[in-house]
Parts: sequence; C-alpha cells; structure tokens
Amino acid sequence: MRVNGTQYRAVNWHLESGGVQWIEQRMLPHEFKQVVSCTPEDVAISIESMQVRGAPSIGATAAYGLALAWQEDRETFFSHWLSRYRSTRPTAVNLFHACNAMQECAESNPTTAQMIDRAQAYADAEVSANQRMGEMMAELLAVGERRILTHCNAGWLAAVDWGTATSGIYHLAQAGEKPFVWVDETRPRLQGARLTAWELNQEGVDCRIQADGAAAWMMAQGKVDAIVVGADRIAANGDVANKIGTYSLSLAAREHGVPMYVVAPSTTFDTACPTGKDIPIEQRDDNEICRMDGLNREGETHDIRIAAAGVEANNPAFDVTPNANLTGIVNEHGLWSALINA
Ligand code: MRU
Repeated sequence: MRVNGTQYRAVNWHLESGGVQWIEQRMLPHEFKQVVSCTPEDVAISIESMQVRGAPSIGATAAYGLALAWQEDRETFFSHWLSRYRSTRPTAVNLFHACNAMQECAESNPTTAQMIDRAQAYADAEVSANQRMGEMMAELLAVGERRILTHCNAGWLAAVDWGTATSGIYHLAQAGEKPFVWVDETRPRLQGARLTAWELNQEGVDCRIQADGAAAWMMAQGKVDAIVVGADRIAANGDVANKIGTYSLSLAAREHGVPMYVVAPSTTFDTACPTGKDIPIEQRDDNEICRMDGLNREGETHDIRIAAAGVEANNPAFDVTPNANLTGIVNEHGLWSALINA
C-alpha cells in the first residue's frame, strides 16, 4: 500500500543488498524508516523486538530471515536458526507455518536462490490471500452504511500488503465507496492509534481513533455497522486468538447485535490446536503498561512513566474469542460458515 503516494510492502527481499528489508514499525507514525539487513540474527531480533509485528508479516519475515540463514551456513540452519526463529514470538502461528515451510524446502538441499524463491513465494501467497479476502469482505460489507470498527493493526503493516481486516476497507475505498472506520487505540502498545490510523490516512480512508473503552458505547448507540479484526491463531474449533481486547469487543457485539468478522489467511489456522484453551498467550513486559513514549510539543521523542514507581502490571498480549461470539471467519477460500453459531 501507499506511503506518501509510493507503494511499499511491510517486509520484502532487498535485491540490491541480498538481504531483508522491513519497515521499522516502532517509529511510526512519527518517522517512516526502512531497515535492511543481511544477518539472520538482526532479522530474528526485528520480530522479537516488534520492529516487525502482525501475524502474516512475522511469518514472511521469518521466511526471508531463514533464507539468509541458509546462505550463511547450512548446518546451523538446522541446529540453531529454526529454533531461534520459532522462539521469537509464541502466539502468531504464521511464524511456525513459515518456519515449517522453509525447513521442508531446506530438506531437499536447495540452492540459496531456491530458498530465497521459497521465501518470496511465501510472502507473495500472503499478499494474494489478503487480496482475495478483501474482495470477499468488501462484498459482505457492501450493504447499508459502513461504519466499521477495528482493533489493533490488522493492516498492511501487519500482513505484508493490503492487510487482513483492512483489505476489505481498502477494496471499498478503491471502488469509490466511502467506508468509515472507528479505530480502537489498542492499549498497551497502541497499534490502532499509531499504525492503523496512519495507514488509513495514507490511503485517504476516513477514520477516528477512540479509546478501547469507547467501543461498547458506540455499539450501544447504533454507530457501528460491523466489527472486522484479524487473528494471530485460529484453533480447529474456530476459537480466535487476537490482540487483547478482542474478546471484550465480541461480548459487546453480541449484546448489541453487531456483526463481527475475523479475516485471516489459512496460515493463521492451527488445525493441531483443538480449542482456544490450547493457544499459548504471550505475556509481555510491565513497561508496556506502566510507560508510554511519543513526541513532545517540540517534536522530540520522550519515554515517560505513567504508573507510580514500584507498581506492577498484568500484560497478556492476546485473548481468545470463542467461535460462538463471531458472525464469521473469512479466509482466502471463503466465509468459514460451518462454524458460525451466532
Ligand atoms: O502483538 P502484535 O502487534 O504482533 O499483534 C498483532 C495482532 O494482534 C493483529 O491483530 C493480528 O496479528 C492480525 S494481523 C493481520
């Protein structure tokens, strides 16, 4: 999608240097910066430190990073790098599917060029899936007013290009429609306020950031036509792990009769995971709750403490929404209606 009118992907293979290039998401929306590295450890750190985040982007980054690891040393690819990448983040299953795909390719003893091609094919397949899901979501949203509420960033930054939840919105906008988006700020890391609102602005889509606590109230007032979110892992029974706060949105949506869709490619599905209870939930650092960073009035970056010194926090990064609370799950193959109970 576009940044100041130029097309970008969140992560890509950088031909000139033979390395991986990614958008440094922690600096957004205040600074747009791309990073290039030819070192597999830097690429692993980019996932761990959330320079790159969002389930499909994490998977694609790992695929590219593992191609670099293969180029560096074929033995340590198996003895070190696969487990190094698998340990970078626990919840988004796309990471594990990407590592498995690269491992399977490596087991046939390919050339480095073939491993790079495999990583490229993995990333391209995510983008095609997003496009297809966007077309379907645009059709589902094509009736009535389109005041759509989204949570976290399930946009192109999170999903290489187009986004998962946002793809339908971008398709509508490109067709000349005028979707409107309520963007949950998404505490604690504010992916909604910092990333989704920025993305939508860049594409000329009208939106408002709101406090997470405002979502239920907007539904109660009849100001939300649909909720569209992404996912980090979908269990075999259709339970969905996504950014913390998604579960409470689903409760409010049920109460107020607002349709709620999850949009996620098949690389976010984990058929080996029977139910949502089996999904590992990442517990993150207290500082994400107790501290905040941003620009002061002079435009300088500052990191400040919000909570009293010594106060501890509880910071689960994801929650699980039972399938029964959802209207539908869309992947690149269609609307997953077999599991719709709402
Ligand atoms: O912790 P993050 O920022 O990686 O969490 C991202 C999310 O929860 C997204 O909603 C999810 O990955 C869907 S991405 C298209």
